Amino acid sequence: MARDLGFIHRFVPAPRDAERSAPPLLLLHGTGGNESDLLGLGREIAPVSALLSPRGKVLENGMPRFFRRLAEGVFDLEDLVLRTHELAAFIRAAREEHGLERLMALGFSNGANIAASLLLLEPGTLAGAILLRPMVPIEPDAPHDLAGTPVLIAAGRQDPIVPPGESERLAELLRRWGADVSVHWSPGGHGLGEDDIEAAREWLTRGLASPPDLPSSP
Ligand code: MLT
Repeated sequence: MARDLGFIHRFVPAPRDAERSAPPLLLLHGTGGNESDLLGLGREIAPVSALLSPRGKVLENGMPRFFRRLAEGVFDLEDLVLRTHELAAFIRAAREEHGLERLMALGFSNGANIAASLLLLEPGTLAGAILLRPMVPIEPDAPHDLAGTPVLIAAGRQDPIVPPGESERLAELLRRWGADVSVHWSPGGHGLGEDDIEAAREWLTRGLASPPDLPSSP
């Protein structure tokens, strides 16, 4: 039986007949989701990647999340920091267990927020990130170097949960730290549209055609 490595999770290896390799994807669901939620989306966006999908450990009225919040958009920062380091430890263990390279995160909403937190607090854990409807999870005092780390932010112009200024603030913060940030603006709200999926697929394919000079794996 597969070890849980500290998180209930699912792991789907890269298809055996894949002609080219692609970075493994770390799938991070939104509030109320679970480890199965984003498997279909992950496969759609990255047909030849291995998929690693943990379930958030915090329960809010029975709904799994990756960290606690005090209200909509108001985060419990102490819990966020702790949960970010905990998730990073899971990622390191899973990489060893499955022989994976560094992972590219694909996170939606609460999952995008913890992915952004991993970028900001756990340098070297992720090879990059696709952040679907993220906010600024935390603004650490001490910046570190995210040079060349590819990040796609997919934001919704009509998002009632994440105002457009918030997505811009995150893009600006990550750029200040050296990340290579692209932003896709969807005409929609917090839910994803076909345009978001297409933008993510295209961004990933473009990145694979010309891989950036990533900082070396720790
Ligand atoms: C969060 O709590 O991470 C964000 O408000 C998004 C959400 O999960 O609703």
